[in-house]
Amino acid sequence: MVLAVTAAAGLAVLAGPSPAAASEVVVYCSVNEDWCREVVTSFERKTGIKALMTRKSAGEVYAQLRAEKSNPKADIWFGGSGDPHLQAAEEGLTEPYKSPELDRLYGWAIRQAEISGYRTVGIYMGALGFGYNKDLLAKRKIAAPACWSDLVKSDFRDEIQIADPNSSGTAYTMLATMVQLMGEDAAFDYLKRLHRNVNQYTKSGAAPAKSAAQGETMLGIAFQHDLLVEAIAGAPVAIVAPCEGTGYEIGSMSLVKGARNPDTAKIFYDWALTPEVQALGAKARNFQIPSNSGAQIPPESPRVDRMKLISYDFARYGSSAERTRLLAKWDHEVKSLSR
Ligand code: F6P
Repeated sequence: MVLAVTAAAGLAVLAGPSPAAASEVVVYCSVNEDWCREVVTSFERKTGIKALMTRKSAGEVYAQLRAEKSNPKADIWFGGSGDPHLQAAEEGLTEPYKSPELDRLYGWAIRQAEISGYRTVGIYMGALGFGYNKDLLAKRKIAAPACWSDLVKSDFRDEIQIADPNSSGTAYTMLATMVQLMGEDAAFDYLKRLHRNVNQYTKSGAAPAKSAAQGETMLGIAFQHDLLVEAIAGAPVAIVAPCEGTGYEIGSMSLVKGARNPDTAKIFYDWALTPEVQALGAKARNFQIPSNSGAQIPPESPRVDRMKLISYDFARYGSSAERTRLLAKWDHEVKSLSR
């Protein structure tokens, strides 16, 4: 009902001089492709507004918004881990907005909005972990890993995949998690040792989960919900919430500053925060925890309440200076090392 009223109001506003542009919205989407498609198709069906969508990883969208700053091509950025959204907010690439749905969100989602000056908002959350291919592990008679510390053992030489933190929000979450868990010096020492065991840094954060499922790598570091997608589909993947504790993401959404279709973007934004729309993630078999307290938490979702989660400092690790510094340091000290 809220949606119908909002959409109608938005469409009325849009009956201005440029009807072609007014009836569309351009979405940069950083959740999995199937969820992105589900969301834009439902939006078009519900509102009659055309939604043009491009799927890219969170770090890539941040870089694109920066490159397009003087001539923005997108109207809204849907999904992707929160740190690059916070960086975009701080750099003025996104627009402040308080949705009427804001009060119905969990505290962690509202806090994301508060620390960004309402330039972004939490739409889901999920914890980081790793998953291994049980068949490959058994074949090689390797003991099941349970901790981050296990991943630097020589057993896993060339057997681990993780994304590149420059392109992937998932991998940046891992980098910032290690710094928070271990302290910066120990974390970089760990990441250098891990580097010896990494066979590929992928572009997207969910790719290592798929590779582990298909037996292309023994172990993938990824969000647990992305590993779960593979396990539910029948792949021999065991999912691990690491024993030392782990970090998590607050998947976010932001309005692009200087957007060509700011009104339709707001319609999309308000609509995307409703419980009905947050249920589309699970419909597309993505099991993050939705941010609207009225939305059902999918029964399949990894039980974050039973995990040892770190107290992730989003304000610090989503800040422009810290994210830029850590990525440059990782490029310089880790990625450039020979293996
Ligand atoms: O939809 C899957 C997902 O893991 C999201 O939970 C996350 O925000 C996003 O992908 C991050 O993708 P990437 O690591 O490719 O930026």
